[in-house]
Amino acid sequence: MKNTIRICVVGLGRAGNFHLTSIERINGLDLHSVVDTDAAVAQREGEVRGCKWSTELTELMKDDALDAVVVASPTDAHFDYICQALTAGKHVFTEKPVGHTVEEINTCFELASKHGLALHLGFQRRFDKNFMALKRRLPELGDARIVKASSRDNPRPSYEYLKISGNIFHDMLIHDFDMLMFLFGAKQPETVFAAGYAYDATIASYNDHDTVMVIIKYADGMVCSIDTSRIAAYGYDQRIEVFGKNGMATVENERNNSVNVYTEKGGSYEPYNYSFPQRYKEAYFEEMVQFADGIRNGQLTNVAHEECVLSHQLADAALESIRTGEVVRFSDFTER
Ligand SMILES: NC(=O)c1ccc[n+]([C@@H]2O[C@H](COP(=O)([O-])OP(=O)(O)OC[C@H]3O[C@@H](n4cnc5c(N)ncnc54)[C@H](O)[C@@H]3O)[C@@H](O)[C@H]2O)c1
Repeated sequence: MKNTIRICVVGLGRAGNFHLTSIERINGLDLHSVVDTDAAVAQREGEVRGCKWSTELTELMKDDALDAVVVASPTDAHFDYICQALTAGKHVFTEKPVGHTVEEINTCFELASKHGLALHLGFQRRFDKNFMALKRRLPELGDARIVKASSRDNPRPSYEYLKISGNIFHDMLIHDFDMLMFLFGAKQPETVFAAGYAYDATIASYNDHDTVMVIIKYADGMVCSIDTSRIAAYGYDQRIEVFGKNGMATVENERNNSVNVYTEKGGSYEPYNYSFPQRYKEAYFEEMVQFADGIRNGQLTNVAHEECVLSHQLADAALESIRTGEVVRFSDFTER
């Protein structure tokens, strides 16, 4: 592999922008081109960043100088772009989710493996220093018995985004399911139950929810609750607590700074980070560093195939539960 890795970024919205920022910060990565179906956006970004631009990927795939593609388009186009890029011999970094079905996920991993190409996934929480430290210290707790995660977004994504995002389980909670994979491996749940509501009438009209809780139980006794909301008035809120036989570990939110002020009126402190670009700025950088290293060192993925499939199946099971109001027995469900 040559020293400089030339990358094309597809989809130039919120995710495309934080990936562009990372690519520009990393030595040895070169922005080859940008693609967006909105020609004005593609042209603006191409001109500002001094690279080729296009409204479609196909022609660019023929360029031997291009090594890798970052897929940051809306979710409904991920699978096609991933297949197109891998088939053309390009390494892929893709935003979540990889596909809409287990079959699509399998196809992507099989294509990458067949061609010996990297397929890295945008589960940036795996690269966050706090969650990494939590994972390192888990053994001190003994077997985990209770896991509590809160995952509340801010601000609410646009309705255009939400309309084609799939649903809150595959679009948002997929990060929390992946966090379970990261911390505990591809452990098969026994049951999954989900309940929730759409306070936002537009989200309700998409047959989706904006506020949800999922409870997962495992055969070894571990129970896990994840609550989520599309909006949190006080800022970006992502916390986790793991309770085990020997103790408890928590990961708290980050604030804009750590100053606490105490007066006769009481205490006050800085708000939490506003949203994900602030909270995960360094994690987005680190995941792109690892993608570049993976291309150079032959590390084909940052998320095991079976973990990606299991996260997707957890989202499927939670969706089934909220639609039926029933507890889903996981093994029966995945065998169907
Ligand atoms: N990992 C994370 O923290 C994170 C955060 C936000 C979004 N995402 C993921 O990134 C993806 C994009 O989300 P976003 O928030 O950036 O969306 P966005 O709505 O901000 O931007 C999408 C961009 O893609 C363009 N586009 C639309 N259809 C396209 C197509 N078929 N091909 C190429 N470009 C197209 C639009 O013109 C727009 O510029 C989603 O799949 C989402 O799940 C991940």
